[in-house]
Amino acid sequence: MSELIYFDNNATTKTDPAVVEAMLPFFTQLYGNPSSMYPFAGEAARAIRLAREKTAALLGCDPREIIFTSCGTESNNTAIWSALRTQPDRRRLVTSRVEHQAILSNLPLLRKQGYQIIEVGVDEHGRLLWDQFLEALTPDTALVTCLWANNETGVVFPVTEMAEACAERDIPFHTDAVQAAGKIPLNLADAKIDLLSISGHKMHAPKGVGALYVRRGLKFSPFIIGGHQENGRRGGTENVPYIVGLGRAAELALANLADESTRVRTLRDRLEHGLTSAVTHTRVNGGGADRAPNTTNISFEYVEGEAILLHLAARGLCASSGSACTSGSLEPSHVLRAMGVPFTAAHGSIRLSLSVHNTETEVDKALEIFPPIIAKLRALSPFWRDDGPNTGGPLTCETGACQVCDA
Ligand SMILES: Cc1ncc(COP(=O)(O)O)c(C=O)c1O
Repeated sequence: MSELIYFDNNATTKTDPAVVEAMLPFFTQLYGNPSSMYPFAGEAARAIRLAREKTAALLGCDPREIIFTSCGTESNNTAIWSALRTQPDRRRLVTSRVEHQAILSNLPLLRKQGYQIIEVGVDEHGRLLWDQFLEALTPDTALVTCLWANNETGVVFPVTEMAEACAERDIPFHTDAVQAAGKIPLNLADAKIDLLSISGHKMHAPKGVGALYVRRGLKFSPFIIGGHQENGRRGGTENVPYIVGLGRAAELALANLADESTRVRTLRDRLEHGLTSAVTHTRVNGGGADRAPNTTNISFEYVEGEAILLHLAARGLCASSGSACTSGSLEPSHVLRAMGVPFTAAHGSIRLSLSVHNTETEVDKALEIFPPIIAKLRALSPFWRDDGPNTGGPLTCETGACQVCDA
C-alpha cells in the first residue's frame, strides 16, 4: 500500500497519528463514564470539556454551543427535526438542489408529513441563485438548510449572507459545514448562523463522531432522547475517545488552517491545471465559483467516470466519480445535473479531493497516470473519433434528440 495516492479526502480522511495518540488513553486507562461521581471518571469529563473548547475554537463559538454527535448525518438530522418540532406552526423548509444525501433523504418523509419543500437552484458554476433563495424565504419557513462547501465540487455558498437574510426575516438557518470545517475559516461569533454540522472523519478524526453547533438561546429539541448527557440535548453515554479525537483534530486544523489551505490549494491548482492542459475536452465543474481549496471536479468528456476510477485504482490512485452507476440507475450526479452539466460530461466526472497529507510528488505522479487512461478509454468509446493520443474529438450525433450527447 506504500504506493497508494489517496485523493478521496471528501469521502473520508486518514486519522491523524496525533489524534490517535490523544485518543488511546481513553480506551485503556481513562475509561471511566464521564457521568460517574468519583475522581477517576472525572478525567473523562475533563477530557470532554477540553475537546468541547477546542471544537468551539475551530468554529469561533462558545463551548456551550457545541453538542457532540455520532456523525455529520446525525448533526444534520438533529438540526432539521429540532427546527420543525420547536416551530410546529411553520410548514416550509428551504434547502438547495445540491445538498448531500444526509439532508436530501429527509425530504420525501417531510413532504409526506405535509411540509412544503423548496429546493433552490444553482447556476452553471454551482452558485446559489440568490433571487430564487430570497423569494423562498416566507414567514412560514421553519428552517433554511444549505451546505457551506459542496462535497462534490467544493463550491462554497455565501453562507454568512444567507444567514443574515434569514435572521432579518426571523427564520432559523442551518448549514452543513462537513466539507468546510478545517478547510476554510468559520467564525460563528460574527455570523447569524443558528445551527451548523461538522463530521470528525472529514477532518482527520475517526469515523463515528461529529458535532452540532446550536446558537445560544435557540429553541432546541433533542433528536436522541435518553440521559442527561450533553446538557440534556443528546442522550447516550459520551463516546469519550472519539470526542477527544475530534477535539485534537479541531485543534490541529485550526493551528494549520492558514498555511495548509494555501499549500493544499496550490497542489489542487497544479493538479487541475496539469490535467486540463494534458487532456482535451475536459471541464472543471464549479471552476468559475469560490471553492474549498482541496477539491476539484473534472469532467473527461466521452468516457465513463466509473471506468476511469477502475483504471486509477489499478494504478493505486483513489478518487471518486460523480455518477451514480453503482445504484444501477446510470443517473449522473444530482449536483452536476443541477448545474446543467451536459450528460456526456457529467458521466465522465471525477472528484479529486486533497488533504494536509498529500504532496507535490503525488500530484506529479497523478499527472503521469491520468492522460494515458483517458486516451485508452476514449479509443474504445463509440462517441470518440480516435486520431491518436488525445488528438481525437467527439463524433457528431446525427440522430437529433440524443440523450447521450444532449443534442
Ligand atoms: C456535505 C456532507 N454532509 C454530510 C455528510 C455525512 O457525514 P457523516 O459521514 O459523518 O455522516 C457528508 C459525508 O460525505 C458530507 O460530505
